[in-house]
Amino acid sequence: MLATQQPVLRRFWYAIMRIEQLESGPQPFTLLGEPIVLFLDAKGEPAALEDRCCHRTARLSKGWCRNGNIVCGYHGWEYDRAGKLVMIPQFPFEQPIPDASARAFRAKTRYGYVWVALDEPLRDIPNIPEDSDPAYRRIFQFYDTWNTAALRLMENSFDNAHFAFVHKNTFGDIDQPRPEKYEIVETDYGFEAETIVTVKNPPIAAKISGTTEPYTKRHMRNKWFMPFCRRLDMEYPSGIRHIIFNCATPIGDGKIQVVQLLFRNDTEADCSAQELIGWDAAIIAEDREILESTDPDAIVDMGRKIEKHMPSDRPGMLMRKRLLDLLHEHDEEEVPKSMVMDDGGLEWSHRAV
Ligand code: FES
Ligand code: CO
Repeated sequence: MLATQQPVLRRFWYAIMRIEQLESGPQPFTLLGEPIVLFLDAKGEPAALEDRCCHRTARLSKGWCRNGNIVCGYHGWEYDRAGKLVMIPQFPFEQPIPDASARAFRAKTRYGYVWVALDEPLRDIPNIPEDSDPAYRRIFQFYDTWNTAALRLMENSFDNAHFAFVHKNTFGDIDQPRPEKYEIVETDYGFEAETIVTVKNPPIAAKISGTTEPYTKRHMRNKWFMPFCRRLDMEYPSGIRHIIFNCATPIGDGKIQVVQLLFRNDTEADCSAQELIGWDAAIIAEDREILESTDPDAIVDMGRKIEKHMPSDRPGMLMRKRLLDLLHEHDEEEVPKSMVMDDGGLEWSHRAV
């Protein structure tokens, strides 16, 4: 599936950037191939507009903020948070401002991030109860751009067959290639998948898992929120909960912004945020290396039979089915790569495919 080619995907919220990033002025981002600019209004709330001035098309993100409006850096035309043109500094004051605007998008803050939906959202932002639970701390783990498709990262997040190989140098055991099966329950927002997995627990991971045993178990309660968010609640026998929430925000078809938050029911004294970031960074780097080698066009219409499958691919197959159903519910068909005339958003097209 080429995310930029399916309009229904514009109807979901995506985590874009930390709200603090806007304190220094407007910031550009490309969401589903659409260049947008984010800035803070007079109340400190995030606003999102198309990143294009209606005068001579300059990127508004090259400008600055003034009293909660955004000023184009080219000739100073000024827009409010709804995108309405409110000021043309060259005009004499008696002359009315033409009725013009930059397209505005929905933006709001949740979990310390600005989220944007390009078209009317079908669902709210996924709920993370631990964010408001005093027993948990929130750690901003990762914010990185990867050259892969959002669906590839989602599928990988539910793929127990890759641990022994991709993660052989961290928690995976190459001598135990047989994956544990997930119990899957479909929900309105996606599905929940539960399993218990035995993993290596090297000395460096002792504080992560709360045990010094060479192996430990992870009770994994993994949730997929259509289309590109997931929450993985890992409970160790020590009672430690390591809850990862990530969003694979699609920049283009072969490019994503990986946002990862971590919630833990221990304290900085038990295991520092830096240690937690360091441990998960090694793991996620292993995933990134292999995912960036895959074809970003993960086919959701299995009738096209382009990839082969095995039983542990079941969560990913279910994602593909649900996404195909979503397309059909909104009168869309999957647009195959061969039908895309230019390489809009196909950042990977320089590679042999
Ligand atoms: Fe923006 Fe002229 S291009 S004010
Ligand atoms: Co992995």
